[in-house]
Amino acid sequence: MSTKNTPRTPFVGGNWKMNTNASEGAALIRSIVDGLGSTSVDVAVYPPFVYIREIAAITNGSSVQVGAQDLYHASNGAFTGEISTDMLKDCSVSTVLTGHSERRHVLQETNELVNQKTKAALNAGLTTVLCIGETLDQREHGKTDAVNEAQIRSGLDGVSKADLSNLIIAYEPVWAIGTGMTATPDDAQDAHHAIRELIANMYDQDAADAIRIIYGGSMKPANAGELLAMPDIDGGLIGGASLVAGDFGAIIEAANVRAATLVG
Ligand code: 13P
Repeated sequence: MSTKNTPRTPFVGGNWKMNTNASEGAALIRSIVDGLGSTSVDVAVYPPFVYIREIAAITNGSSVQVGAQDLYHASNGAFTGEISTDMLKDCSVSTVLTGHSERRHVLQETNELVNQKTKAALNAGLTTVLCIGETLDQREHGKTDAVNEAQIRSGLDGVSKADLSNLIIAYEPVWAIGTGMTATPDDAQDAHHAIRELIANMYDQDAADAIRIIYGGSMKPANAGELLAMPDIDGGLIGGASLVAGDFGAIIEAANVRAATLVG
């Protein structure tokens, strides 16, 4: 498959993980919104559940989308501690993460659970960011593409081509998350390209050309430009650097440069 220079709108998400308190979160989102200006990039933040309503009130009227870091696939009932898609939408959430490596590896989420959550999110009309990626051990054993393929095939089991239009794949090599180690642009490009080929095999070439595949793992202002210059890297999912408004803004700006290059 040749990679077309398709003008996929870049997507930059800030995954705040279990960070900030109410006042820090409010100050952070105010700085992000104030610094944004006009942009050709889809921008989202994923605060902790308990702050979502306050953050959404501040983003109201801006182009920043508010997302959730997780969801539960049942619609309601006796699931202590869990949050449904209806509850999220009630709090102005329009996008959600599924399969984040910390949920897979720390909270022991299985491929099957990730698949149930992914389908529930898509059925609810939420822009769903399915996170995948290999551990260091898997990479050192040459298993990167095989692990990504297994996680995508199981994560998207039962997902139609039509639903795929509201899905983003985040390639987040586990060894690069929060470590300061980043995949080289060429290594990340190779993984993204293999993922796009897989989507062509599972669905068709149109679906592969249209789907956004974003990179996560120690992306920061210093490396965002070279990663986002790669043909198959359509944006970023940012952890640590998304907690600093200036750094997050600089990464959005690098994605704006990508958008201008693709359109121009
Ligand atoms: P870091 O940017 O802190 O490495 O986190 C990446 C990530 O896990 C985003 O979901």
